[in-house]
Order: sequence, then C-alpha cells, then structure tokens
Amino acid sequence: MLQVLLTVSLIAGYCEQVMGFHERMLVENLLEHYHPGLRPVVENSSQPTSVNISLRLVQIFEMDVKKQVIITSVWLKQAWYDPVLRWDKSQYGWIDEISLSPDDVWVPDTVLLNNAETSKMGKPVGMSNPLLVTSHGTVRWLAPIILKSSCKLSVRYFPFDEQFCRLKFVSWTYSKSGLLLEPEETEILQNYTESGEWYLEKVYALRSTSKATHTNTENKSAVTYVIHIRRKVFYYFVYLITPCMVTSFMTLILFTLPPESGERMVVGITILLSLTVFYLLASTHIPETSEVVCH
Ligand SMILES: *[C@@H]1O[C@H](CO)[C@@H](O)[C@H](O)[C@H]1NC(C)=O
Ligand SMILES: *[C@@H]1O[C@H](CO)[C@@H](O)[C@H](O)[C@H]1NC(C)=O
Ligand SMILES: *[C@@H]1O[C@H](CO)[C@@H](O)[C@H](O)[C@H]1NC(C)=O
Ligand SMILES: *[C@@H]1O[C@H](CO)[C@@H](O)[C@H](O)[C@H]1NC(C)=O
Repeated sequence: MLQVLLTVSLIAGYCEQVMGFHERMLVENLLEHYHPGLRPVVENSSQPTSVNISLRLVQIFEMDVKKQVIITSVWLKQAWYDPVLRWDKSQYGWIDEISLSPDDVWVPDTVLLNNAETSKMGKPVGMSNPLLVTSHGTVRWLAPIILKSSCKLSVRYFPFDEQFCRLKFVSWTYSKSGLLLEPEETEILQNYTESGEWYLEKVYALRSTSKATHTNTENKSAVTYVIHIRRKVFYYFVYLITPCMVTSFMTLILFTLPPESGERMVVGITILLSLTVFYLLASTHIPETSEVVCH
C-alpha cells in the first residue's frame, strides 16, 4: 500500500515538474523586477523604442454616410523587442515561447486617432489580448478587433463614387524620440472577405508625424492606413437608374398620343404618380446628406 502511494506521489511530482514547474519559474523570474511603466530600451535611453505595426483588413462591415463612420474588422499586429524579457532556454526546460498578460508588461499605448466608438475612447487598441514573448525578447501582440472610425465620405458622384478611409494610429504619450511606429510590409489583404457593396481597390500604409493642432498629439510617430474602395454599381443600375430612365421615356410617349383620345391627362397623372412612388423608394437607397444633393 505504502509502495503504491509512494509511486503515485512520485509520478505526480514528476509530471508537475515537467508540465508546470518550468513555466511558473520562468514567469516569476521574468516579472520579478519588471516595471510595466518603463519602455524597453534597446541600446541607451536616447534611442526610441521601435514598434512594428501591421494591419490586415478582414472585412468592411458598414459604411454610414449620415454619420460619416466606417466599421471594419481588422487584425492588428504590433511587435517590439524587450531586452528584459529574455531567457536562457536551457535553464527552463527548453520553453521557447510564453504568453503574458498586457497588464504585467510594457505595451505601446497606440490609439486610433479618428476613433468613433464611444466605449473605446482613448484606450489603446487591443488592450486585453495576451502577448506572445519568445526567448529572444521579441514580443508580439496580435488583436482581432472591430474598428469604428470616422471617414469623410464624398457622395458627389454617387453611385459611381470612390472613398478613401483612413485609420490613423498614433502613440498617445510618447513623442517620436520615445516610440517609433514602423509599418511592416505584410500581405494586407490575405483572407479578406469581399463586401457586397464595395470593391476594395487597395489598402496601403503611410508613415507620418502627427501634426494635430492640439499639443498632445504633436510630434508623435503615426501610421495611417488608407482603405481605398469603390462602390459596386450594378445594384443601383437595376433599381435606380433603369426605372428612372424608363419613366422618363414614358413622358415622351405622352406627346405621341392623339389629343382626341382624351387619355393624355390619365397617362400624364399616372407617370407623375409613378415618379413620386419611385422617388420615395429611391430616397431610401440614396445616401442621406445635404452636402451634395443628387439631382
Ligand atoms: C546613445 O547612443 C547614441 C547612438 O548610438 C550615441 O550617439 C549617444 O552618445 C549614446 N548616449 C549615451 C548617453 O550613451
Ligand atoms: C521590425 O521590422 C524590421 C524590418 O522589417 C525587422 O528587421 C525587425 O526584426 C522587426 N522587429 C520585430 C520585433 O519584429
Ligand atoms: C487564410 O486562408 C487560407 C485558405 O483560404 C488558410 O489556409 C489560412 O490559414 C488563412 N489565414 C488566416 C490568417 O486565417
Ligand atoms: C514639434 O517639432 C517642432 C519642430 O521640430 C518644434 O518646433 C515644436 O516645438 C515641437 N512641438 C512639441 C510639442 O514638442
């Protein structure tokens, strides 16, 4: 009996050592003297921390012309190098990668500057997702997020319009000498789900320095992703343009009717009524804005 108990406890102890022990030791040792408020300094503190940022567009959910807002689903990846989060693999059972909570380590305070979501105001994007840290000190922070951002839409050429929507990411507190956002060259459109309303022409990144007039965002490193989309016209062609042309053509037929038949009045009123009904229907498909009123 005693022998069995001993064996069981030995096996349990061995499993514990192999499966949980090294990881716990590693996390405890890494975070023991870690201060999440200090940015990682690679060479000396006059060098900015460089954060690679990359965005993959997954889907365009909605475009609200009235509110001038676009809702997109994106995967945002941020990667940087933190020399404090390094370890010797051989001392920790060859663990090469661990997952840490963003509350425990330093994370860049990247915010979406043209954010239109009230619940996310001023909060860094992807705040609650865990980070992956490798033994070389590379930290990767991947966040699948829904972004609601403001986008100035122009419907002057509706339904033949093109839109350029910007997603501007900027570090909220660090200036350019503290944190540098570097757009990474990646496949931006892998696994993109085509929208029923928009053709996606292109997504590209622009690197810039924030020149916002309010002092807080001045001289900050910023990366802007531009989403270039074009409206799919076929729907509007079938439901808007064709009926409109047919009704207008009917008006011409009116003049070919002989005056003696006495039906001119009836046909004329019918056309007027059908135009009114058509206009009621059409207005539900036309962007609601007064800036440019479609004629
Ligand atoms: C920091 O590094 C830069 C370039 O590597 C160097 O010019 C500068 O003197 C260094 N500063 C200190 C305080 O070591
Ligand atoms: C950031 O990007 C540069 C250039 O693409 C690359 O050399 C570097 O390893 C990247 N850094 C991290 C932490 O991924
Ligand atoms: C993208 O789609 C391909 C197949 O269509 C799949 O193999 C791949 O894992 C997907 N990538 C991501 C990041 O979801
Ligand atoms: C931003 O940079 C410009 C020129 O480089 C400088 O004149 C200005 O004072 C800086 N603004 C802040 C808030 O640091």
